[in-house]
Amino acid sequence: TVGFSQVGAESDWRTANSQSMKDTFSKENGYDLIFDDAQQKQENQITAIRNFIQQEVDYILLAPVTETGWDTVLQEAKDADIPVIIVDRMVDVSDDSLYTTWIGTDALCEGRKAAEWLNGFAEAKGIAASDIHIADIQGTIGSTAQIGRTKGLEEGVDKYGWDLVAQQTGEFTQAKGQEVMESMLKQYDNINVVYCENDNEAFGAIDAIEAAGKTVGSDIANGEIMVISFDTTHAGLQDVLDGKIECDVECNPLHGPRAEELI
Ligand code: AHR
Repeated sequence: TVGFSQVGAESDWRTANSQSMKDTFSKENGYDLIFDDAQQKQENQITAIRNFIQQEVDYILLAPVTETGWDTVLQEAKDADIPVIIVDRMVDVSDDSLYTTWIGTDALCEGRKAAEWLNGFAEAKGIAASDIHIADIQGTIGSTAQIGRTKGLEEGVDKYGWDLVAQQTGEFTQAKGQEVMESMLKQYDNINVVYCENDNEAFGAIDAIEAAGKTVGSDIANGEIMVISFDTTHAGLQDVLDGKIECDVECNPLHGPRAEELI
């Protein structure tokens, strides 16, 4: 019996991650999976873990919403002798023995790749660093994916001297991504790069840019707004093919088989 506490269903990536777990830990494969969708709330995840402990599951899989705040409940799982595998995002705990292992996202590496790509693009096109005006639509604040991707961008800003115009969370959702982009476009008229910390935010940002009568694309010296994203979902890659997203950094959600191998 495996208990899986999922952050939520905020993105297409997350849906694929859940499906991978469900496909792997299926009845046909000999498992009993207790799946809990926490709807992006840490308190729901803590309740789910306590329920898993009460039900005496054999393993707990935790995809944590944010990094901090797990010490107490993970100590409870340890006291109950239930191994905990952290999936996708990381936890920041005082004692590493509170979990067995972690499989997941190297979000800082992803952020750095995006920043290096942008620098390569600017160099190839002869665009000065001071002419690059970036809006950063961040992920859920305090999550590993947000911390790493934001840091990767900020390192690029420090290294290359780009103009970081604005930063605000879009909670990894399309609706919030759209809302944040709308308000940034009203506030600043010079944004020519939007760094969306996942694909769903990018879909929302593209809608907002087009609704404002602007064009997404790579001709940023002539008024177009370039979209950079993360995840490489099917729809994200379609937007790359259609020229709406210029750079989409891969983050693989298919953790089910990896978790099974570890177990
Ligand atoms: O933790 C991984 C991130 O979480 C994905 O990039 C995002 O789409 C999801 O919501």
